[in-house]
Amino acid sequence: MIANDGATLGRVLFYDKNLSKNNAVSCGSCHQQQFSFDDNAALSKGFEGGLTTRNSMAILNVRFYKSGKMFWDERAATLEKQALQPIQNHVEMNLSLAELESKVKAQTYYPVLFQRAFGSIGIDSVKIAMALAQFERSIVTYQSKYDQVKQGLATFTAAEVQGEQLFLNAAAPNTCASCHTPPMFLTSEPGTPFALLDAADPGINSENRFKSGSLRNIGTRTNLFHNGSVANLQAMLTAAPGRPPIPNHTVAPPDVQNLLAFLNTLTDNTITTEVKFSDPFK
Ligand code: HEC
Ligand code: HEC
Repeated sequence: MIANDGATLGRVLFYDKNLSKNNAVSCGSCHQQQFSFDDNAALSKGFEGGLTTRNSMAILNVRFYKSGKMFWDERAATLEKQALQPIQNHVEMNLSLAELESKVKAQTYYPVLFQRAFGSIGIDSVKIAMALAQFERSIVTYQSKYDQVKQGLATFTAAEVQGEQLFLNAAAPNTCASCHTPPMFLTSEPGTPFALLDAADPGINSENRFKSGSLRNIGTRTNLFHNGSVANLQAMLTAAPGRPPIPNHTVAPPDVQNLLAFLNTLTDNTITTEVKFSDPFK
């Protein structure tokens, strides 16, 4: 259950630059609403302009990730545990938990928000993490063309139908859907070693495995995969001279347009303008 007051507090914290050492970045700097809570750069800039080591992840439908583990390498067991990591990360926001608590306590708008969310004005990092997680759990896409078709309110074009068939059935045994499971298009448990060759980053348990977040809104996102090395969907699906095909992801030329058409039906444009997810400091 997501309590409204918790998510409201979480929204303010999410966009509050006071959560970084020099008040330069907030969570929303690297997870921008206009980009489906992702960044539009391969690597993101932290509080002093230093770069993250991996690509930012879209915070969409995170509540549906079965194991609850967060990050490309799943090193955070829960959303709550995840939330305190960028705050303490020396490149991203660079605060100790004690500094975090005193900076949040120093803002006049927080006591009433904590009172409403938790029934008392006491502020600590555990509550900050809980509120951030509540806000993130509230960001769910359900108004895409795909959703409308599944509810019988719209119909796929011929290309979209073919694309869905390819997604569900093509290239067995590793169909797209066997890893990115509908309806949220999440990898439930990234079991198969995945070979987007990256000597610099061995992923989960150093086994060349990575999580993939929800593929919803993927058509609007750029710099895909854990290192942001794949420009966009078209580039992923299409073989290019001088670049090895991505196993399971680069498909036969006649399939590209159909898969693109289908994947674009997963876009819910309301999410990028929805006021309750927007920056309250603007
Ligand atoms: C400087 C940029 C930056 C800032 C600031 C930042 N993030 Fe991130 N975020 C990232 C990157 C990069 C990753 C992927 C890192 C990895 O996997 O090692 C990520 C991953 C995540 C994930 C994992 C999503 C998933 O599906 O596994 C969540 C959740 C998240 N961030 C929430 C937050 C919250 C909450 C804040 C603020 C407290 C925040 N981020 C601040 C860049 C940033
Ligand atoms: C064997 C499992 C598997 C199969 C099959 C598979 N994927 Fe993936 N996919 C992954 C994993 C794991 C990642 C993340 C890998 C990384 O970042 O290095 C990923 C990443 C992606 C991404 C980038 C996501 C992001 O947030 O950057 C897209 C898009 C994608 N897959 C679409 C597809 C499509 C379309 C197909 C079928 C043509 C497909 N996948 C087949 C496991 C799979």
